[in-house]
Amino acid sequence: MESPTKSESVCRDPRVVGEDDVDDDPPLLSFHALAALKEFLAEQTQPSTEPHLENGVSEDSEVALVAEDWRLSQFWYDRHTAETVADEVLTLCQKFDSPRVACIACPTLYTYLKKIGPNVSAQLLEYDKRFSQHGSEFTFYDYNEPEELPMELKHNFQIVVADPPYLSKECLEKVAHTISFLAQHSESYLLLLTGEVQAERAAELMGFHPCGFRPHHSSKLGNEFRLFTNYNPGTRLGGWEQ
Ligand SMILES: C[S@@+](CC[C@H](N)C(=O)[O-])C[C@H]1O[C@@H](n2cnc3c(N)ncnc32)[C@H](O)[C@@H]1O
Repeated sequence: MESPTKSESVCRDPRVVGEDDVDDDPPLLSFHALAALKEFLAEQTQPSTEPHLENGVSEDSEVALVAEDWRLSQFWYDRHTAETVADEVLTLCQKFDSPRVACIACPTLYTYLKKIGPNVSAQLLEYDKRFSQHGSEFTFYDYNEPEELPMELKHNFQIVVADPPYLSKECLEKVAHTISFLAQHSESYLLLLTGEVQAERAAELMGFHPCGFRPHHSSKLGNEFRLFTNYNPGTRLGGWEQ
């Protein structure tokens, strides 16, 4: 028996008929229309290059993040910023036998940290309870109550990273209070991401210096942001700015 041609094979599908077929049955798709439909459906399932929101989760090409809630001053780092800071934290971790990292109000950093270094011991202190999805590594934190935290967290972290929700003096002072509560000792490595306008205050409060590296966010912000450290990063992070 002769094997069927390609178009014949396709036409064995009862939903498909040749272009010239005309009868009284319910409308059927032509071979060309079916091909166009298949192409359209395939395009719909391709990953988008734009940030995509579904069920409140943004697939920012690299990791899934919950959608920003601007009422909570949530502005997520872009991928390069999150990876750069996460890499720095992991470099610092190598200096310790059992490093512990505290992420104060910087959930994107926490997410990238766990992605790049899944075994790192990190604690996310956050006001937004959607991040309780991280189980025992989530601690509810309100900067208005700087020490309203579980006692087992006190002086338990060699590395502390903070990104205060607001650019006020009061907010920075209270977050600095929490940093001191969490930091293991005066030798702890501290990183602060906040507006450039806080530079003087950050230096007075905790001896922070700005680094050359500039943090950026997925949404464009009007304020210039900086990364401050209490230690000299050498050539990393663009060095300490003099
Ligand atoms: C400027 S954003 C920093 C987020 C960071 N850029 C990131 O991508 O992870 C400030 C963070 O503070 C949190 N926040 C809002 N209100 C707060 C409060 N009362 N106490 C502590 N954190 C709060 C927000 O949920 C948000 O994660």
